[in-house]
Amino acid sequence: SKKLTIGLFGFGVVGQGLYDIIKTKNLNLEIVKIAIKDPTKKRTLPAELFTTDRDEILNNPEINTIIELINDTEAAYHIVSTALKSGKNVVSASKKMLALHLEELINIQHEYGTSLLYEGAVCGSIPIIRNLEEYYDNELLHSISGIFNGSSNYILSKGFLENLDYASALKQAQDLGFAETDPTMDVGGYDAKFKLVIAAAHAYGVVVNPDDVLNIGIQNLSPYDLQYTREKNLKIKLVPVAKELDDKHVALFVLPKLVNEHEFLYNVEYEYNGVIVQAAFADQQFFFGKGAGGHPTGAAVLSDVAALRYDYQYEYKKAKQKGSLQFTNDIELTV
Ligand code: HSE
Repeated sequence: SKKLTIGLFGFGVVGQGLYDIIKTKNLNLEIVKIAIKDPTKKRTLPAELFTTDRDEILNNPEINTIIELINDTEAAYHIVSTALKSGKNVVSASKKMLALHLEELINIQHEYGTSLLYEGAVCGSIPIIRNLEEYYDNELLHSISGIFNGSSNYILSKGFLENLDYASALKQAQDLGFAETDPTMDVGGYDAKFKLVIAAAHAYGVVVNPDDVLNIGIQNLSPYDLQYTREKNLKIKLVPVAKELDDKHVALFVLPKLVNEHEFLYNVEYEYNGVIVQAAFADQQFFFGKGAGGHPTGAAVLSDVAALRYDYQYEYKKAKQKGSLQFTNDIELTV
């Protein structure tokens, strides 16, 4: 298989996690350059590996693969679209950027014959995109739901199981590298929504503008809510849902939900994520794994990198099959 020569953008929690994993393996790949924002930060790697100049990587013909793991949505979009147009394959974990620009990026990769993979963007280590794309290719999916955000789940778990207050739990999630730079993304349900939008493209072939999707987060839950759920033997989880309402309409939303002890999500705690797929023939299936953190997410990124060696591309098979489905936010919420 061909040697991958990599330009890495971003050396934060996930970038370093990925680097750690690559170091331990004998893979036919080389990280040629790493683009960073802050050149004054102390690094454990030789200085000549780093650059602050994006174009030094994007214009380097020796680099055939881009891994994009940065925070800045606009910059990430520029890097990914430029790279795809110049014939480089791309792996990205920027869920917000992907959710906002999915349709356009799908078109670009088709036009230029390049691959864009992003397993690491959705539920960390859980291989849900590849499964929706390949395994459920011919399945009618009734719904996809679960816990897609590790930080908010971490906060809920800390509050429920350890009585830790919201602010301290959030601080811990930040210190552990789970939370977004702007934690509103996590606790407000935005991050879960971006991941849901990406998953829905593979599950239903609908590309939805995240602004059209309702998201209510966990930031306004009170200690009394937790006390109530404890008394009733329930837990509160932040649950994104994509579901087929009828043979023409798919609804997406993100809401806090009460779950009981017989439900899969009841035992998904801390930074773990869970995805429930309700399929017509396969019936209900549950995926469970770490949804945040450098190594779990780095492992998902590496799995995409490895898939590029055999030129794997998402075909958006559902999009081809089920172009008739449309997004609706006309949902009836039942309690
Ligand atoms: N902030 C995200 C989370 C990181 O807490 O799940 C993983 O996408």
